[in-house]
Amino acid sequence: MERKIRIAPSILSADFTRLGEEVKAAEKAGGDLIHIDVMDGHFVPNITYGALMVEACRKSTKLPLDVHLMIEKPEAYIDDFARAGADVITVHQEACVHLHRTVQQIKQAGDKLGRKILAGVALNPATGMTTMTEILTDLDLLLIMSVNPGFGAQTFIENSLEKIMLARRLIDGSRCRTVIEVDGGVNEQTAAKLIQAGVDILVAGNFVFKAKDYRKAIKTLRG
Ligand code: DX5
Ligand code: ZN
Repeated sequence: MERKIRIAPSILSADFTRLGEEVKAAEKAGGDLIHIDVMDGHFVPNITYGALMVEACRKSTKLPLDVHLMIEKPEAYIDDFARAGADVITVHQEACVHLHRTVQQIKQAGDKLGRKILAGVALNPATGMTTMTEILTDLDLLLIMSVNPGFGAQTFIENSLEKIMLARRLIDGSRCRTVIEVDGGVNEQTAAKLIQAGVDILVAGNFVFKAKDYRKAIKTLRG
């Protein structure tokens, strides 16, 4: 079966002085989700923005908002991000002692609001798929980091491809519907290899928002 590849432009590389226009432009150019990178200066060595940014994006687009929490104690903020309008909330495996509980909490945050919120888990480059064995089928989304999280425009780490291939085999083997997303260093060259390896969603910051023509950039990534 042909997989439909979705592109999630990451606003980390957008022009914040014109955020609303940037988000609208990414939607008009064919983006499928808007990726929002939340960083706390503890889990990663950088600070970005919080739930207010999700609220602002919600007012600018109808696209699903894909919130990537690179923060410690994400469980304390899930309801805030849900209320702000997140459609996908992804937490890091490395930040969650009680990962199963946190994943359920994301789903319940949606139930409380009467809408579906998808639960995602992200893996840093050094974290193996073995940490996902017991929880993979509970996840809506598995985010494989292909750079160490914290900054945009970093170089793609090649061995993420192996992890994606393994994830694809495990997901297909268990017949669950978990989608595979990849984040970091996605460009024309790496996108083709990532699609081949089995991803469903490509996050792209620099490649989309630093391009002259967003539509062309997004089309290029789809291959
Ligand atoms: C990195 C972030 C990414 C970032 C990707 O920590 O999670 O989403 O925006 O940026 P590019 O596509 O420029 O590597
Ligand atoms: Zn991200």
